[in-house]
Amino acid sequence: MEILLRPDAAVGSRTAAGVVARLIREKPACVLGLATGRTPMSLYHELIRMHREEGLDFSQVTTFNLDEYVGLAPDHPASYHSFMWEYLFKHVNIKPLQVNIPNGLAKNIPEHCREYEDKIRACGGIDIQLLGIGGDGHIGFNEPCSSLSSRTRIKTLTRRTIQDNSTFFDSAEQVPLHVLTMGIGTIMDSRSCVLLAFGTRKAEIVAKMVEGPISAMVPASALQWHEKTTVLIDEEASGKLTRKDYYQWVYQNKPAWQTAEIES
Ligand code: GLP
Repeated sequence: MEILLRPDAAVGSRTAAGVVARLIREKPACVLGLATGRTPMSLYHELIRMHREEGLDFSQVTTFNLDEYVGLAPDHPASYHSFMWEYLFKHVNIKPLQVNIPNGLAKNIPEHCREYEDKIRACGGIDIQLLGIGGDGHIGFNEPCSSLSSRTRIKTLTRRTIQDNSTFFDSAEQVPLHVLTMGIGTIMDSRSCVLLAFGTRKAEIVAKMVEGPISAMVPASALQWHEKTTVLIDEEASGKLTRKDYYQWVYQNKPAWQTAEIES
């Protein structure tokens, strides 16, 4: 895991957008794994700016989203379909047919999940998987106790996640109990992962993910086992890390070519 400390969420989001933009420029037909939630909103905003002002071209990009609520139609305002179109897709030149989000209305859920996995493989696998982290350590919607080798499937949300995500709905009662999510095994197959976490409310879980043991109780800790994961956090989210000085030291002493990959 590479731990990148940024002064605040705005700088962190710009750094992450830069990493994504660099991939799109180097490999126009790349495959992006995308996340929802409050955390990546500024990153998407920056990608939209780059599209408008710098001509960042999404025309050959394929995307796969991590998850979706079961029972919500794509046009439901709180669905992750709506989220992605609202905060990214409708503002860039991505081809709708190259956008993939699990279908919360799928009739045969196991079959739909298998097809989602097959499609990721058929597209050559995910180049960069963007991730946030839930307060209980979930990535995608892989709640604590998820198998570390799980694939796309149905999951039941915890009461805590229902509460956390209720701000996107009129009330907690309206948050669906069930979701479809890429599995931890699916995420681990990505060639690289970029996990964003900002704010003091993420400090404790970030410390568990980075410095705690790998455990299904903290699903994001599985990323310690991933070959190329970057954890991008702001000052506030880094508050409980015991090796913060070392992560800063590593960054300060990076060879210039490595820093250029992050800063450019
Ligand atoms: C949801 C999403 C996750 C996301 C998490 C954190 O549960 N399924 O992918 O990481 O929320 O959300 P936020 O960024 O709003 O803290």
